[in-house]
Amino acid sequence: MSQLRTRDVVDADLSAVLSIRNRSFGPLSTGGEDWWRRVSAETLGGRMIAVVDESDRVLGAGRIRPYEQAWGGRHLRMGGVAGVYVEPSARGGGVATTLTRALIARMGELGDVVSCLFPTTATLYRRSGYEIGGAQTRTTYAGHLLRDLASSVSGRATDTSRSVVRPATPDDAQRLHDLARDAQVRHGASGPMVPTAETFRGMLEREELISYVASDGFVVYDLSDATVTVEHLVAGSPESAAALWGVVGSGSSAAPTVHTYLDPRDPLTLALGGLAANEVQQTPWMGRVIDLAAAFPGRGFGAHTSVAARLVVDDPEAPANSGTWTLSVSGGRGTATRDEPTSGAPPLEVGARGLSALWCGWSVSRVRQAGLASGGSDDGDAELDAVFAAAPYITEYF
Ligand SMILES: CC(C)(COP(=O)(O)OP(=O)(O)OC[C@H]1O[C@@H](n2cnc3c(N)ncnc32)[C@H](O)[C@@H]1OP(=O)(O)O)[C@@H](O)C(=O)NCCC(=O)NCCS
Repeated sequence: MSQLRTRDVVDADLSAVLSIRNRSFGPLSTGGEDWWRRVSAETLGGRMIAVVDESDRVLGAGRIRPYEQAWGGRHLRMGGVAGVYVEPSARGGGVATTLTRALIARMGELGDVVSCLFPTTATLYRRSGYEIGGAQTRTTYAGHLLRDLASSVSGRATDTSRSVVRPATPDDAQRLHDLARDAQVRHGASGPMVPTAETFRGMLEREELISYVASDGFVVYDLSDATVTVEHLVAGSPESAAALWGVVGSGSSAAPTVHTYLDPRDPLTLALGGLAANEVQQTPWMGRVIDLAAAFPGRGFGAHTSVAARLVVDDPEAPANSGTWTLSVSGGRGTATRDEPTSGAPPLEVGARGLSALWCGWSVSRVRQAGLASGGSDDGDAELDAVFAAAPYITEYF
């Protein structure tokens, strides 16, 4: 392969990038041009990188979408890597590997302290230190069970809904953002992203989505082919949860099936008088730590967790992560300090993939079994497990 170089995508490159995209995924679907224009505008000027040959021909490109993601109920800047594609005739020559490395370096410069992506091949991203962090889970319910939830709280299916739920308008966008963010803080969630108020406004303006607000919650869903798909449902109390789910289930005579993209441990599971369908759909996502020194103090921890764990990291592609670290947690806050080798028990040693897996809540014993960690001690493993305990999930797809 000729000499590869990376540079920012500029306006004049967009048609070449779109052509590679279409050679990778087929033509844009109806309405796809709007989406393409929107994501291009969002990422041009530093968040879209091209790999070019010596004659400056674009061979591949990728984007870093600017997201906010909860870890332990606190929100971190997350670079969502997407739109990675390589001209078919240039594949197999390291273009995507070159691109992924450039994207990681750029996220470090931009201050995106962690990164996530939905892979079509794990190998490519594992090479650059990403690991499977969890799955976006689609759980399916019978609509009548959701309808029954409303009557179990109010005595009549329609009373609760009517009293506290109203259709949302684009002016509710900021409120939806705030409610979603607050719920992630309240549940100490790890993994979910918070759509911006602007993103919610776009959803509320799109006529194909249906949305309602309650005093302390909201729902956004889609209805097509006799099936409801719940994109977001946030509730601050059992009453508003019942009312909002009641609205979703109220159409069970015409739309008996309800798909949901939720926390697999959404309290709905505990409140519902029946079970979810056995079949779930899972789309795996991968995570990576871009800047441990900044990400760790930004993450939330259990208020009563008090622990210090040591860890040796070797991460050539994000060299700021490399070194021997002491990760301390106290009063819900963490600090990451680089320390000198000491005479105590030898710390666990990981590469970038092992660090990403630990960050995403994989226990040390599992990371070891996958061959992604070595050294350390039983006590050290238990300390790291206490630090990183989490069951992360993502509900959005990007
Ligand atoms: C996947 C893709 C980006 C790889 O681009 P590339 O420049 O050929 O990748 P590289 O040469 O850097 O290869 C890196 C590794 O990716 C993996 N990989 C590449 N193509 C693959 C494929 N079709 N299936 C499975 N793994 C693949 C391989 O492990 C490869 O390493 P190897 O060549 O040592 O086996 C490219 O094939 C493409 O554009 N595909 C269509 C769009 C797509 O799937 N994009 C990824 C979205 S997450």
